[in-house]
Amino acid sequence: MKRTIILLSFSIYFLVQTSVYGQDTYVPTDNNLEAREWFQDAKFGLFVHWGVYSVMAGGGDLGIAEWIMHRKEIPVSQYEMLPSFFNPTQFDPAEWVSMVKDAGMKYITITSKHHDGFAMYDSDISDYNVVDATPYGKDILGALKEECDKQGIKLFFYYSQLDWHHTDYYPRGRTGNATGRVESGDWDAYIDYMNTQLSELLTKYGDIGGIWFDGMWDRPDAPWRLEETYALIHELQDQALVGSNHHKMPFEGEDFQMFERDLPGANTMGFNEAGIGALPLEMCETMNGSWGYNIKDREFKSTKRLLHTLIKAAGMNTNFLMNTGPMPNGKIQPANVQTMKEMGEWMRTYGESIYGTRGGPVEEQSWGVSTQKENKIYLHILNQEETDILVPVDSKMVKKATEFSSGKKLKFKKTRDGIYLLIPENEEDIDYIIILEMK
Ligand code: GLC
Repeated sequence: MKRTIILLSFSIYFLVQTSVYGQDTYVPTDNNLEAREWFQDAKFGLFVHWGVYSVMAGGGDLGIAEWIMHRKEIPVSQYEMLPSFFNPTQFDPAEWVSMVKDAGMKYITITSKHHDGFAMYDSDISDYNVVDATPYGKDILGALKEECDKQGIKLFFYYSQLDWHHTDYYPRGRTGNATGRVESGDWDAYIDYMNTQLSELLTKYGDIGGIWFDGMWDRPDAPWRLEETYALIHELQDQALVGSNHHKMPFEGEDFQMFERDLPGANTMGFNEAGIGALPLEMCETMNGSWGYNIKDREFKSTKRLLHTLIKAAGMNTNFLMNTGPMPNGKIQPANVQTMKEMGEWMRTYGESIYGTRGGPVEEQSWGVSTQKENKIYLHILNQEETDILVPVDSKMVKKATEFSSGKKLKFKKTRDGIYLLIPENEEDIDYIIILEMK
């Protein structure tokens, strides 16, 4: 009897070890690998930063939105008033999702809980959520998920590991130190809380696209119990893709690698020093200068500039996750709606050269980038100042070159270093695309 109990507890121990803590030898399931392919084919998604901070609209400062609690040193006791002002009566998930579809986007990644700790869904473990603490009283994520399912858009949840509200987020990190919390707390209890919230997100809303983590950089060396969290996610939904904005090379158990406001390999931000790993890639970027809604920020990037980022990202085998910060009434900023509409028009015509492609064999050149699908290479001429270009491909393999928009054949010269092409006069302002058909 005793032996059986010992044996039994051993097998349970090993089961737990391999199933819950086993991400050090993480083997993605077939479902997961399939989801990764889908993700790479999808190329374009909408990032949504929405929370009770939108009510403050940046507080009149440029560069502040979802960080207002930290930046303005608002104590928890006062910040807790914000939910009572959050009543987005004009939030129409059908309108949002149609807009996303028209923009040519295939998925949405929305903040389920940002650094302020407020849950935008119906959390059972904490009342600090949109259903229990706001006059609106409805589950934003639930409504959005339902509409996404209807319209065939995948939904990912952003989740901040960093928490400026929870007392057990202690010892504290670099940020959120002026929110008036007691100087004690139980870190492990916080991680348990986080894992419970993640379980909620993974069990209440059907199949989701994945979890987009952020905030680990607040305490890079803390015992985050990542393996346990990642294993939990994959156990609940094996297809759910896990990624984290920790600005490091991917950790075991992650399914994609992300870059914040820089193309892979670039580092204009200063924190993008990680190399490029082998997982699917994604970069995120704002449409103006803010993630959350900022009433003063009118520095909207042009449609052309955002499309160039999308195209360059595709050339580097990377998805483009483009952000909007909805207004506190539930509407998307009109300038963003307009830009997305214009991007969608472009995608409807030229999407073939983006969707389902992988990064091209030609690395980024001064004239632009390339993508490829089956036996086709798409050359994206983004800089038309260069009227003749050398394309460093194996010239023996090139069968023909045609203009994407007209199908017109283009002449080219084969050289040892590649093919030499003259860019003909054209009307394209955003991207002059040439298709190379390969043997
Ligand atoms: C940063 C910011 C955060 C934003 C995120 C998006 O980590 O802290 O506010 O959500 O980037 O990439």
